[in-house]
Amino acid sequence: MGGELEGVEGPPPARGAAEPERLVSADADGAEEQRIEAALRPRKLGDFVGQERVREQLSLVLQSALRRGRTPDHVLLSGGPGLGKTTLAMIIAAELGQPLRISSGPAIERAGDLAAVLSTLAEGEVLFLDEIHRLARPAEEMLYMAMEDFRVDVVVGKGPGATAIPLDIAPFTLVGATTRAGMLPGPLRDRFGFVAHMDFYDAAELEIIVRRSAKLLGVEIGDDAAAEIAGRSRGTPRIANRLLRRVRDYAEVRTDGTVTQESARAALALYEVDERGLDRLDRAVLESLMRKFGGGPVGLSTLAVSVGEEPETVEVVAEPFLVRQGLLARTPRGRVATAAAWAHLGLAQPPTAPMAGTLFDVDGDTGRPGE
Ligand SMILES: Nc1ncnc2c1ncn2[C@@H]1O[C@H](COP(=O)(O)OP(=O)(O)O)[C@@H](O)[C@H]1O
Ligand SMILES: [Mg+2]
Repeated sequence: MGGELEGVEGPPPARGAAEPERLVSADADGAEEQRIEAALRPRKLGDFVGQERVREQLSLVLQSALRRGRTPDHVLLSGGPGLGKTTLAMIIAAELGQPLRISSGPAIERAGDLAAVLSTLAEGEVLFLDEIHRLARPAEEMLYMAMEDFRVDVVVGKGPGATAIPLDIAPFTLVGATTRAGMLPGPLRDRFGFVAHMDFYDAAELEIIVRRSAKLLGVEIGDDAAAEIAGRSRGTPRIANRLLRRVRDYAEVRTDGTVTQESARAALALYEVDERGLDRLDRAVLESLMRKFGGGPVGLSTLAVSVGEEPETVEVVAEPFLVRQGLLARTPRGRVATAAAWAHLGLAQPPTAPMAGTLFDVDGDTGRPGE
């Protein structure tokens, strides 16, 4: 399909572009969002908010390489979507004063595609491979040798007559990014001299990011409003920036344009993103679990049917965040709402079944609604 270099130079293909927009999704939502994000990206390590340890470690790696006049070790950035991997890759190149070449695992279909990129790298250049866990096997094997020996074997011909022509490539720095570090084969992971694990951001860090982005977008925002947005951003800068833009729209159309805590609250209520960053689907799952199944345990597919969704949607889209927030637990017997979930939705938690059965309830009724 396509030419050799198709998709190799540009930004990685937008994932989820065809999916319905979900305001609290951590994935970038198409080309328009990528364009805006580019404008909001910090360009220097010093402007990168949070990830203190990663920043300090990386700063050492880069500075020492600069001092020795050598290319730094290859860097692997691992963490969920929207936490700043692409941003850091760009910063690494900028700090080294080198151009950044961008490609991604899915864009490289054959080893030849990778050889074409590698052989045109100039000395010291930084190659960013996004979603590196999705690299095809033959390309991955070629990458091992390139990372270690700055050499590739280009296979010419097919079958018994095929010959491998060794090709030297200029010393370069590979920056790989992955949302699934566990899916990286060991030999590939081992060839990275530095692995950075990106964590979710705390509210104070997100607040700084919101205020910084507001400034870049020319939006006036109060500190309490920035905190309001930060608290609903699920620990993820990309979501913080997106919520900020929706709140700005609201403030521009409905008020004088200044984002106050009041307009932030009103806007986010309109978009159905609650104080903890749960959206409609998240709340529907919890509410169904509590109202229809007494808080569980209930099986995933039953729960999914009760909210009119596919099991995969509930499992992949809603559950990880609910589990992370301690609102939902996955147990061997099914999904269970935690005490925090009952409190968050303002529902009264029924007494737990054994207590009700043994102490208070002579009929053995569990006290669960709907039984
Ligand atoms: N530490 C940070 N400080 C400021 N903005 C950030 C930070 N991390 C991410 N962002 C912003 O969040 C958005 C998504 O970041 P990105 O690097 O594309 O995430 P990823 O590649 O991990 O999905 C960008 O607009 C970027 O400006
Ligand atoms: Mg990215």
